[in-house]
Amino acid sequence: MTSLSEGGPNGTFSNQEERAEQLAGKLVCDSVISDIGTTRGSVTFKINRDLLTRNVLQQISKDGSLYGLNTELFSELSRRKTIVEYSSPNIAKKFHVGHLRSTIIGNFIANLKQAVGNEVVRINYLGDWGLQFGLLGAGFSSFGSKEKLLANPLQHLFEVYVKVNTAAEKDNGIKLSAQEFLRRLEGGDPHALSLWMHFRDISIQEYAKIYKRLGAHFDDYSGESFYKEKSQEVLKQLESKGLLLKTDKGTVIDLSEEGNLSSYSTVMRSDGTSLYITRDVAAAVDRMERYNFDEMIYVTDKSQKNHFQQLFKILKIMGKDQADRCQHVPFGLVQGMKTRRGEVVFLEDVLDEARSRMLQNMAASETSKQLDDPSDTAEKIGIAALIVQDFKGQLVSDYHFDWDQALQSTGDTGVFLQYTHARLHSLQALRCPRDTEDFEIASLREPCVIATLQHLLRYDEVIYKCLEDLQPRYLVTYLLSLGHLANVAHRTLQVKGSSSEAAHARLLFFKNVQMVLGNGMKLLGITPVNNM
Ligand code: ARG
Repeated sequence: MTSLSEGGPNGTFSNQEERAEQLAGKLVCDSVISDIGTTRGSVTFKINRDLLTRNVLQQISKDGSLYGLNTELFSELSRRKTIVEYSSPNIAKKFHVGHLRSTIIGNFIANLKQAVGNEVVRINYLGDWGLQFGLLGAGFSSFGSKEKLLANPLQHLFEVYVKVNTAAEKDNGIKLSAQEFLRRLEGGDPHALSLWMHFRDISIQEYAKIYKRLGAHFDDYSGESFYKEKSQEVLKQLESKGLLLKTDKGTVIDLSEEGNLSSYSTVMRSDGTSLYITRDVAAAVDRMERYNFDEMIYVTDKSQKNHFQQLFKILKIMGKDQADRCQHVPFGLVQGMKTRRGEVVFLEDVLDEARSRMLQNMAASETSKQLDDPSDTAEKIGIAALIVQDFKGQLVSDYHFDWDQALQSTGDTGVFLQYTHARLHSLQALRCPRDTEDFEIASLREPCVIATLQHLLRYDEVIYKCLEDLQPRYLVTYLLSLGHLANVAHRTLQVKGSSSEAAHARLLFFKNVQMVLGNGMKLLGITPVNNM
């Protein structure tokens, strides 16, 4: 700064010119940039537009779903073993909007990591242990129904849980028998275990159906129950290392730098049972041994930030260096997500609401009458709307959810992306592009084509940014701009009625735009539709 002001305007100018020249000297032309120079302190690039057109279109045609993903940019970031833990609902409790966010964000991160060549393990750390099973075990015979359980497992288990819970507040006998059931479970009583297993199995089956609607899946459902014994082993290990301190608040680990308990974590209750954090330590240690991962990513709402900080610290204190490879991706709260029936209790309610609202919006359009399965299409569009609305901002920010805004067909929404994708797809019915090597460049010299191609060229850079800080908003913004560019091109470039050479070239261009748009949507967890 000093030298700039000392040098005055002229000094500043020549400095900048010098720097521009230095920079330009380091840059090399490539297949698209035919000349690099400087003008008044700026670096200038001369683009060979025809070459740009040819290269980008050939590259996309050649790479297909791998376009932008197999570049050198990612060589350091790929070929690693990545664990992504997400969704993780609690059986018999509400599957709230936070679990929905965790599911779609975790799915995006897993898709992204996989797309650039990592081996990804998707884990659902189910809340499948704890007092809720004691209550269900004690009260299912009085409040539950086998038929209802089969017809609607998640809803029914939740209903029974709420009823037993309320009854237990008034009736100490029920409370005691719930505690007794949990003790039997913990002690491995076969009858208690088989009931628990039944509740768990049917819940997982149900979750899997919902995940499928959302385009998400898991490789492993090892939840908290899996780690109840392993937590005891961890406690023994901590004990043998002299890390446990008995206090009146239970048994704790000192996490403070000074060793004065100014920060600590309770890892064992006075009755010897483990806590949420203890099971998380056991799970992390087990995953280190089982998978020997290069990175592990936990996706939960930001209220658990402290929990994960403590977890990673405990792992470090235990001498587990893999703690440095663990990362928590926090997200903010969603306000105002209601359905017409009221507050959202189950994820299914949100998906059903998205589908029915979308079906209603589609009813007005002529083309939707010709769809084979309007309800399925409405669901895919509705989910795209949810995802785009959710991914637009910084993940850690809270946001207010608004159905009307999310489901608008124009503007920056998932509906708009689906609409653009379907529109580009319908063009392909006009004529099937021929040999991709050969097309008439002269029909692709419009500024709107060049702008779109330059945008397509940036796809890898956007993926790189997403990978750097695991935020989907870069890709969302990118795809929305691509959508707008594609719509301008669609309005400007004639296909029907132009010469067969021109039509062929333009269809090829649109096909490539559709490909990249579809690829990006899939990464976000959206299933692109071809008709709507
Ligand atoms: N089941 C927990 C909840 O609903 C989320 C679990 C997050 N993962 C973890 N490893 N603690 O809040």
